[in-house]
Amino acid sequence: MSTTTSTPQAPALKIAALAGDGIGPEIMREAIKVLRAVEKRFALTLEITEAPIGWAAIDKEGMALPDRTLALCKESGAVLFGAVGLYYRDPEVVKEKRPERALLRLRKQLGLFANLRPVRLYPELADASPLRPERQGDGIDLLMVRESMGGLYYAYPKKTEPVMEAKEAGAPAQEVLRAVDTMALTSSEIERIAHVAFRAAWLRRKKVTSVDKANILETSILWRKVVTEISHQYPQVILENMLVDTAAMQLVLRPTQFDVVLSDITFGEILSDEAAALVGSLGMLPSATLGYPREGQTCGLFGPAGGSAPDIAGKNVANPIAEIIAAALMLRYSFGFDDVAKAIETAVGTVLSAGFRTADIFTPGATKLRKVSTSEMGDAIAEAMS
Ligand code: IPM
Ligand code: MG
Repeated sequence: MSTTTSTPQAPALKIAALAGDGIGPEIMREAIKVLRAVEKRFALTLEITEAPIGWAAIDKEGMALPDRTLALCKESGAVLFGAVGLYYRDPEVVKEKRPERALLRLRKQLGLFANLRPVRLYPELADASPLRPERQGDGIDLLMVRESMGGLYYAYPKKTEPVMEAKEAGAPAQEVLRAVDTMALTSSEIERIAHVAFRAAWLRRKKVTSVDKANILETSILWRKVVTEISHQYPQVILENMLVDTAAMQLVLRPTQFDVVLSDITFGEILSDEAAALVGSLGMLPSATLGYPREGQTCGLFGPAGGSAPDIAGKNVANPIAEIIAAALMLRYSFGFDDVAKAIETAVGTVLSAGFRTADIFTPGATKLRKVSTSEMGDAIAEAMS
């Protein structure tokens, strides 16, 4: 009888894959393709289980975040996410049941309070940036740290109600609708996200720009006070407080001044898409939303910062790079495989250097570039991994 010796296998990494709506399934397919190449090259075992979310889940199971999808996410080491939402189907369900709310619920249920969006201009994409070369300096490389479990998105009351209103003094009161959102943050919510930003900055260029609207908003006054207090625990890191309107302007004027940009959920929502445009396309910007480590693993939700892009869905033209880099961030942050993450990031760089471009980052007329589809981009990156 022959015996075979086998090297002990590392335990499988459990990943929940939620492709969702619009371009979600297309970009997810490419990210999984790259992950399969990772398995071969690094002898890792990835146990990837797909589950429905968003309209895909409403159609199959009657709700945007089915219980079994949530349960799968809870028992996985990380969640790889595509996109949710199809604006033209919104009238089909009450707003509380829409896919975007399901995503917020998922973030909350998993305790994911820290949203990280690394914004990097690949030198090869200098032409795809709307900024003139002199404004790009030596390259844009910043990290958006966005609070993601509190603030305007989550706080109550949140409602629309009829109220009586007189158009002018003395005029008869008429019934009008009044919509209310609440912006609320506790000092502990601000503290924990501030720590994430300062620790990240400590490992980078040691500067945090904290964005707020402290000349008007109560939440921002508390935000600035707490962030400034926490900054004293990180004497090596410089803190700069900046009003959000100034930050929006400075991002386009001199993006190279930023290292870590810390903000609440609302300001981060706006500034992160602006920053993505500066580096060529929203299709390039990954997003990692993390919670506190659980049994040594940081459960996290990883996907593109952009949405479902229904206008280009199903056409095999979307850029899968944000999703592929999100998969790299998952391997780094949730599973601790920094070298594997770097290999994926390097493969993306190699493919960009070779001239492969999806439509969003293609420069018409450029002779050395090759316009490719979603799946061709995924193939090329997977190939560069092997
Ligand atoms: C994002 C998205 C989400 C958000 C939506 C889909 C709820 O825009 O991740 O940036 O606003 O957080
Ligand atoms: Mg957004």
